[in-house]
Amino acid sequence: MEAKQPLQSESKEHYSAIVDQPKYQAIRVGNKTLFSRAVGQFFTPPTIATHLVNALVNLLPLKPISVVDPFAGDGRLIVALLQGLSNIGWEKLLRISLWERDSQVLKLARRNVRLFASSCGIPIILRTRVCDTFRVASTFAEEFDLVVTNPPWEILKPDRRELKHLTGSDRDLYLSKLKSEDEFISHQYPLSQPSRKFSGWGTNLSRVGTEAAMLLVRKEGICAVVSPLSLFADQVSENLRRTIVSNYELTDLAYFPAEGRFFKKVDQPSVTFVAKKRPPQRLCPVISVYNSSGELADARRVRLTRKMVKSTGYCLPLQLGAGGFEILSAFSNLPRLAELESNPDSLWAGRELDETDRHAFLTTRGRHPFLKGQMIQRFTIAEQPKLFIRANGPRIPPSASHSRLVWRDVARPNQARRMHATMIPASWVTGNSLNVAFFRDDDTTKLKALLAIMNSIAFEVQVRALLATAHVSLGAVRRVHIPELTNRNIVLSLSTWVDKCLSGDLRAGVHFEVAVAKAYGLAKPRFRELLTFFPLLPEPHTRHLLDSHLWNAKH
Ligand SMILES: C[S@@+](CC[C@H](N)C(=O)[O-])C[C@H]1O[C@@H](n2cnc3c(N)ncnc32)[C@H](O)[C@@H]1O
Repeated sequence: MEAKQPLQSESKEHYSAIVDQPKYQAIRVGNKTLFSRAVGQFFTPPTIATHLVNALVNLLPLKPISVVDPFAGDGRLIVALLQGLSNIGWEKLLRISLWERDSQVLKLARRNVRLFASSCGIPIILRTRVCDTFRVASTFAEEFDLVVTNPPWEILKPDRRELKHLTGSDRDLYLSKLKSEDEFISHQYPLSQPSRKFSGWGTNLSRVGTEAAMLLVRKEGICAVVSPLSLFADQVSENLRRTIVSNYELTDLAYFPAEGRFFKKVDQPSVTFVAKKRPPQRLCPVISVYNSSGELADARRVRLTRKMVKSTGYCLPLQLGAGGFEILSAFSNLPRLAELESNPDSLWAGRELDETDRHAFLTTRGRHPFLKGQMIQRFTIAEQPKLFIRANGPRIPPSASHSRLVWRDVARPNQARRMHATMIPASWVTGNSLNVAFFRDDDTTKLKALLAIMNSIAFEVQVRALLATAHVSLGAVRRVHIPELTNRNIVLSLSTWVDKCLSGDLRAGVHFEVAVAKAYGLAKPRFRELLTFFPLLPEPHTRHLLDSHLWNAKH
């Protein structure tokens, strides 16, 4: 099959070939060189590889099959596959193709795969190819029964810290090659293009590699991929997710937390998915969750509805496991925060000043105090502003004439709480490490009720389900379901609790949670389930939250 294809000649002019030249090799940011960034060589750790192959071996037809790892590295996914097949007593022929840009590493892959196949007695025909898979894949569309891979984890974009080491023509050459690579990829792999690019950059090679893998697999074949969790959670990959969910039968999804340090040099959560290429009748994958010690903590089949998945922009809350899907469906009939923005006298949400070069526009006196993310906590201004916007500084945004709700734009996933929201008065101005929101009619009672909701467990569990990184993006927050704010009694009650929270009344911090849970229509058993997603909350606090007299009281 493969032999009929002429070997695609690799242009020495490709940007990864350019940055492999000695003069570029010394440029290093953190532990990465320009070359290692170009090829994204992060090899799959054993726990992830084993999970992936175990999830697919029983789906294979009992006949000779063709398999490719189009980003083969040292061949470890194919070695894991041979191990998994040997465990189930596989004896059929495997036609294996290994594609890889780095010839040295491919030599290793060839040796590893040959040795392992002969030690477990599985007959193989092995073909290896030094190539750029992004250029070769279309020639092999729908040729393989099985594609198993972990594409490079890199974003195509120049890094300012790298660029400062490059001068004149070297810099121009690097930038122009990077740009033409981006143009080639966006033309050839449109599904995996991000829905938004910043300054023209943002192509994620892991998404592109996933699209290439899906292209290579034949109808009724199996595609098995390792990816950053963000594939199923970010705000820019909806197209690719929709294609996967609509055209493939997802059979297995697994989540590996960043704290597990599964990959040596990667500090982000990862996932695997296994999918059969055929229009799905049902959406019933097994969802597995590994804990930070690398153990399987939960594995259950879930039944998803297309409506639910579509309503989250095809985001799948894998980090919450099967229970997370059940929880989310409990909220699905309520309105979303975004709906508050849809009529003209309603909510405005956004960000104010870019704070990157804030020292240029801040001074010690002025009319507009300046606030950034680290200065707030839940219901508190933890650090009063001491700096002000210069009189000749940036234009004061119109939103600053309203008293408003603010929340931090960044909060790491391993914190006990990720939503940190409070109120600020009109005239203060915020940097873009804060998001702000206000009702155009300046209804502060309603705004405080919204603050109660946003700082609640019920809101945050949904935010967690929609986020893959430390960035608490406005796009994700807009998708969160909230209780109807039309019942004035509920709004008044929540706003009264917020007044108490803002004045530092600790008891109110428990009461408002139960009041919000009731506004969401949650009963105590469901709320108890929500608390299981907050393992870092101190035990006395969770005990108080479940206190019967709070649940029996009228709020
Ligand atoms: C994330 S590693 C995965 C390697 C291996 N499959 C594993 O699971 O450990 C991605 C591999 O793809 C290779 N690679 C990067 N860009 C490539 C391209 N355009 N064509 C072929 N291989 C590429 C890298 O050299 C690297 O070995």
